[in-house]
Amino acid sequence: MQDVSFSLKSAGKAIGFIPTMGFLHEGHLSLVNRSKELCDVTIVSIFVNPTQFSPSEDLALYPRDIEKDNKLLLEQKVDYLFYPDANEIYPENFQTFVAVNHITKKLEGEFRPIHFKGVTTVVNILFNCVMPHLAFFGQKDAQQAAVIKQMVNDLKMPVNINVCPIVREADGLAMSSRNVYLSVDERKDALALYNALQKAKRMIDEGEKRVSLIISEMITIIAKIKYFKLDYIKIVESNSFEAGEELISSNEYYILIACKIGKTRLIDNELIIVD
Ligand code: PAJ
Repeated sequence: MQDVSFSLKSAGKAIGFIPTMGFLHEGHLSLVNRSKELCDVTIVSIFVNPTQFSPSEDLALYPRDIEKDNKLLLEQKVDYLFYPDANEIYPENFQTFVAVNHITKKLEGEFRPIHFKGVTTVVNILFNCVMPHLAFFGQKDAQQAAVIKQMVNDLKMPVNINVCPIVREADGLAMSSRNVYLSVDERKDALALYNALQKAKRMIDEGEKRVSLIISEMITIIAKIKYFKLDYIKIVESNSFEAGEELISSNEYYILIACKIGKTRLIDNELIIVD
């Protein structure tokens, strides 16, 4: 991979990179399209990264379909697919990790304590293999994108991070590789995440600034689901990811939700600017 990237770079090509864990959907492909608009060469990686899953999570079950992914990427005219083995990324004597502090401790970090350390480590390795000029991440994982930006700034990595909007199903459910886990009933229930976010957005558009009130309306919507476990609903300032009690005019916020529907853990968010 490095040989390919070195020769692309010496030929003056701008390299766009989309790291993924595969089982590709329209959300991933929107990142591919953005890269194709902005860069000369687009490289996608598929690697289900073991270090970002805790032992109790779904690493073994994580959906995989490399044949279909490969076909989709060929149709999209992606230039390169980087598809390394786990023992190439993490050989036997592997002992180096990259960890971002503070911003990784809250929200997802509270419920998935080792997750971001695995993400930043693998993204670092993948960046070193691909050496992209631009890398594309989805707002779907807003905290992940913020953590990556923090790492790139702190370590002065020579790559630009481009964050692309959430792609949704026709009814509003955010696309996710994990949506295949949902039963027919759970798929219907999963829409509550989107509905709760839309309710919050409407309240804020109508001038509501009290965070606790907005969140309690959202909880009312989620509480109608049969089998759910709400991990968090939070409204945080979009750069710092700090929560407050009162929204401030002209500030930008993420409304974030993480909820288990049956056994499937889903996350979603909405980016808002307060009037
Ligand atoms: P994965 O879940 O496969 O997602 C790859 C990229 O696609 C991420 O940047 C994610 O935010 C984006 N994405 C997923 N669903 C999306 C949607 N509905 N709309 C827009 N973008 C979407 O995120 C990871 O993999 C891994 O943590 C990774 C960064 C590859 C490191 O292992």
